[in-house]
Amino acid sequence: MIFYFTGTGNSLAAARKLLVKGEQLIDMAEARRKGQFRFTVPKGERTGFVYPEYCSSVGATVRDFIEHLELENAGYVYAVATLGGKHSISAGFLKKLLKQRGLPLHNAFYVRMPDNCIIYLVPPSEKECAEILDSVNGQILKIREEIVHRTSRAIPMRLRDQMMQKCYLLMNRTKPFRVTDACIHCGKCEKNCPSQAIRTENGKPVWVSPRCDLCLGCINRCPVQAIEYGSKTVGRSRYVNPILR
Ligand SMILES: Cc1cc2nc3c(=O)[nH]c(=O)nc-3n(C[C@H](O)[C@H](O)[C@H](O)COP(=O)(O)O)c2cc1C
Repeated sequence: MIFYFTGTGNSLAAARKLLVKGEQLIDMAEARRKGQFRFTVPKGERTGFVYPEYCSSVGATVRDFIEHLELENAGYVYAVATLGGKHSISAGFLKKLLKQRGLPLHNAFYVRMPDNCIIYLVPPSEKECAEILDSVNGQILKIREEIVHRTSRAIPMRLRDQMMQKCYLLMNRTKPFRVTDACIHCGKCEKNCPSQAIRTENGKPVWVSPRCDLCLGCINRCPVQAIEYGSKTVGRSRYVNPILR
C-alpha cells in the first residue's frame, strides 16, 4: 500500500513507478477530505509514504493525515521524498509523526525531480526537466530493489526537524496568491487544490483558507498562467510533471 501526496505530479509519478502489482495507491489529500484514516495493509505487503519535501520538511496534508492515521498490519514501512535539491532531511520529522501513531519507519529514500518551487526559484528549463525526469527511472529502480529486500537504516530524529517544520509553517500562507484578468474561469485551481483552500466566487478563485500546503499546484497547473504569488512569479515559467499534463 502506498500513500502519496502531490501538487504538480512528481510524487504521483514516483509512487506509480514504485507500485508493486496488486498494491493500492492512496491519495492522502483525497482520503483526508473524505475523513478516511483507517486502513489495513494486506498481509505480506509493504507500506510506503511518497511526498514532496517542503522547506526540508513534510507538508500540511501529509502531517495531518498521518496524525489521524490508524494503520493495521503496516509491516515494513518506508518513505520516499521527491525534491528539487540534492539533500533530503524530511524523514526525521516523518519518523516522529509515524512514531506518534505507533508506526515504525524502516527506511527513507529520496528522488531528485524538477523543482516546482517557482515562488522562490526560476524552475529548470524544459531541457533540464527532461534530463532530470530521464534519470528518475534509474533512481526509482534502485529504491524499488531496496524496498523489495526490505532494507533498513537508522533514521535520526534531530532538533532541526522541528525547526524546519516551523519554517514551513511560516511560509505556507495563502495571502500572496492572486488571480489576474487572464483567468478563463475553468475552475481547475479549485478542483485540483489538495488543501481545499480555493473557492470559485463569481467565476474566479478566492483563497478562502489562510494556509494551504503551498504545493503550488494552482499556479503551476493553471492552463493560462493566470495565478501569481505576489510579484515573484510574474514572467516565470511553470512546471507540471507530464503525468498531469
Ligand atoms: C513550498 C515548496 C518548498 C519546497 N522546498 C524544497 C526543499 O526544501 N528542498 C528541495 O529539495 N525541494 C523543495 N521543493 C521542491 C519540491 O519538493 C519538488 O519539486 C517536488 O518534487 C514536488 O513534488 P510534486 O510534483 O509531487 O508536488 C519545494 C517545493 C515547494 C512548492
